[in-house]
Amino acid sequence: MARGDLPPHEIADPALSDAGQARIDWAAAQMPVLGSIGARFSEQRPLDGLRVAACLHVTAETANLMGTLRAGGAQVALCASNPLSTQDDTASALVRRHGVSVRAVHGEGPRAYAEHLRELARWGPDVAIDDGADLIAALHEDRQRRSTGKGQGARRPLGATEETTIGLVRARAMHAEGTLAFPVLAVNESHSERTFNDRFGTGQSTVDGILRATNVLLAGRTVVVIGYGFTGRGVALRARGAGAHVIVCEVDPVHALEARMEGFEVMPALDAAERGEVFITVTGARDVLRREHFERMKDGAILANAGHFDVEINLDDLRSAAISPAREVRPLVAQYELPDRRLNLLAEGRVVNLTAAEGHPAAVMDISFALQALCAEDLVRRGGELEVGVLAVPTGIDHEVARLKLESLEVRIDELSEAQREYLRSWEGGSTGEPIR
Ligand SMILES: NC(=O)c1ccc[n+]([C@@H]2O[C@H](COP(=O)([O-])OP(=O)(O)OC[C@H]3O[C@@H](n4cnc5c(N)ncnc54)[C@H](O)[C@@H]3O)[C@@H](O)[C@H]2O)c1
Repeated sequence: MARGDLPPHEIADPALSDAGQARIDWAAAQMPVLGSIGARFSEQRPLDGLRVAACLHVTAETANLMGTLRAGGAQVALCASNPLSTQDDTASALVRRHGVSVRAVHGEGPRAYAEHLRELARWGPDVAIDDGADLIAALHEDRQRRSTGKGQGARRPLGATEETTIGLVRARAMHAEGTLAFPVLAVNESHSERTFNDRFGTGQSTVDGILRATNVLLAGRTVVVIGYGFTGRGVALRARGAGAHVIVCEVDPVHALEARMEGFEVMPALDAAERGEVFITVTGARDVLRREHFERMKDGAILANAGHFDVEINLDDLRSAAISPAREVRPLVAQYELPDRRLNLLAEGRVVNLTAAEGHPAAVMDISFALQALCAEDLVRRGGELEVGVLAVPTGIDHEVARLKLESLEVRIDELSEAQREYLRSWEGGSTGEPIR
């Protein structure tokens, strides 16, 4: 592949681009932060002539990030981080109208998925944007293959950015093993990502998923949230906002105390089992709800999981406690009949905000992808100087994203005066404000 060429695209149907563009435009209206970064990028062209490869959900929100990178002057290639979330119409619009090479088809199998990743790695990107570290792994495999073969050696990317917890776990494992060859910026762990994505994004969309699947009235109901971490906090807050009485269950005493101080009732899950009407697990652990809980629950209780994997509600226990196979009583609602009660499981215990709702709203992805765009720019600016490893997103980028978001909301804030800055920098002033002599 000559430098300047994009890898060949592979999409389901090029004729879908009108529908795709309509989705992209709708999302763009909810993504003002990325929009203002795009405007600056088109003037300053910080990515001019560089290659950016991305492995992300191929959705309208991602399309807006791709547009921002293009505005910055980059050549852009995209493959899917999950073939089930690929929007074929969005992929078509990206190829036909935005000059992005997309290699993604909704529902493609593991072989096609892996081949797309390999193709992007072979292209030799300067910057990789990843969601799960599959692209990071493919880039390392490509380097390995080239160093043992007779072909040209692979160029070392300036660095990568990573969107997910699991991707950072993998990148850190590579670093511990001594294989990581370039810096990876931990977008997932930045302050604004944690706040918007986990708390507000998952909080709202989890409640949304439960409402879409069941259409129950939350006001006046008792909702049990199991796990009060970054994500559980958002779920508890939004359930309370809908008028529910919220009980929190925790294993971490500090988180439990925080929940109590926030005004939630706190108790062990076995006690909450008798009180709750809707149960939401969001711990990252397994078997959080199991037979002993099911056998105490009220007739008609609703069970949902917002944790990443479908292991939080023990389905084997639920099946074995039931006297007959589950009955689908509404789409995505399976009813299990126990000897003296019925329990309603949503979305087979899979992550409810993605299966029964649409995941994070575009306004939340605006923050995540604004971070991604600024991190890509940062890697280009400082890539040569950065040490190899998993690195924190610079605080300046976090502040810049929050500043742009506030600006889009027309919210102004105060600034420190020079005297205040000086005071905060100095150590000499004690509680009187005067040097202690
Ligand atoms: N649905 C989404 O869109 C989405 C978004 C972000 C994270 N997640 C997932 O949600 C899960 C939680 O993520 P997080 O970032 O909030 O993690 P976190 O570590 O901040 O919080 C998890 C909390 O659960 C508690 N916990 C663990 N085991 C427990 C148990 N058996 N009983 C009660 N409490 C228990 C922990 O003490 C902790 O406070 C993970 O699986 C994560 O991947 C989902």
